[in-house]
Amino acid sequence: MTSKHPLNKKRLLLGITGGIAAYKAAELARLLIQDNIEVQAVMTESACHFIGPTTLQALTGKPVYTQLWDESVSNSMAHIDLSRATDVILVAPASADFIAKIAHGLADDLLSTLCLARNCPLIVAPAMNRQMLENPATQRNLATLQQDDVTILGPAHGAQACGETGPGRMLEADELFKAIQHFFQPGRLQDQRVLITAGPTFEAIDAVRGITNLSSGKMGFAIAKAASEAGAEVTLISGPVCLAPPPVKKLIRITSATEMLAAVENESKHCDIFISVAAVADYRPAISHAQKLKKSDDHWTLALVPNPDILQYVANLPNPPFCVGFAAETNDIEKHATAKRRKKNLPLLVANLAQEAIGADENTLILFDDHGKHTLPRAPKITQARRLIEHIASLYQA
Ligand SMILES: Cc1cc2nc3c(=O)[nH]c(=O)nc-3n(C[C@H](O)[C@H](O)[C@H](O)COP(=O)(O)O)c2cc1C
Repeated sequence: MTSKHPLNKKRLLLGITGGIAAYKAAELARLLIQDNIEVQAVMTESACHFIGPTTLQALTGKPVYTQLWDESVSNSMAHIDLSRATDVILVAPASADFIAKIAHGLADDLLSTLCLARNCPLIVAPAMNRQMLENPATQRNLATLQQDDVTILGPAHGAQACGETGPGRMLEADELFKAIQHFFQPGRLQDQRVLITAGPTFEAIDAVRGITNLSSGKMGFAIAKAASEAGAEVTLISGPVCLAPPPVKKLIRITSATEMLAAVENESKHCDIFISVAAVADYRPAISHAQKLKKSDDHWTLALVPNPDILQYVANLPNPPFCVGFAAETNDIEKHATAKRRKKNLPLLVANLAQEAIGADENTLILFDDHGKHTLPRAPKITQARRLIEHIASLYQA
């Protein structure tokens, strides 16, 4: 079961679960094989009631695995080995039952166990009766999968095997095939090294108090995800945030602006593109006390000193990477953004309205570059991040 596949040949593990649409998986396997993609089929026990493993074995030219307890596998580790020897897992059709299992991390058969043990992307193509799909439990499970970075293809709307009409049909084999071809295409930033800063910084006053801001890190984390999707090797340097880590090569957590600068000094030596999204505190206390300061009735004056300008540091390097700055403004957005771009000599500056963007799940972005001003109308931050990465890739490659 070790990978003996030729270099550059893409490998896909096709999981098939128990639904009428299982018959479409045979056509899908045929299209993938024709396109020189190596396909390893794994079927649940229920799937075998709908389509015979022999069909998949003949189409893929490989034994089809169905059992967790398979004595023909030399080390009995099919659940690990199969998930390591693939570039992506596609479960098509994905039954309501299977979606529920992987949303909850269950692993009681071979396919669910190797989905849990995977270290590659997971794509599912749901197929079920419309009422099964619309059931709040299934909707919750699909939302969980989305949060867990699982890609969901479909389902489509139309006539169902049960005689009803509605949402729940699995996408057709050729539609799934096109989505897989797209997945395997090299991204716009393939193998480019992208360094991103995100979140706020926290500048300690004493052991328990500090100066920070309302940045949630959502925009920076979304950009890190979008850059990874575009094939970049992403290093993300993040201030204190409460977000699940995106799929990046390296995540460095820091607290203060000084720590962020030290991490950026290290990492910017090896990057092609630098995207400065973090809301770095402009000032820090002149003295940071190790002990908690005691309350008193006196007025208290806090002396502040300016923090280093991290973006300026990178932009002024002898061989600077392609630098993208962010500006969060409450007013006169265009005036402040163009002034900041000019002062720091940046090829691209991204501006947004602080009161609409900070902490929110959606925002409007206004991009300023040598060609002028481009507005990305209000949308979820991940959509904006993908649009921004497209824009950066176009400028960077020009
Ligand atoms: C004739 C028949 C058709 C079925 N079609 C579907 C279907 O299209 N989608 C689905 O989610 N479940 C369907 N089911 C129910 C699943 O097969 C059942 O939930 C099973 O436990 C799924 O097992 P698996 O997720 O391990 O493959 C069907 C059951 C039968 C008997």
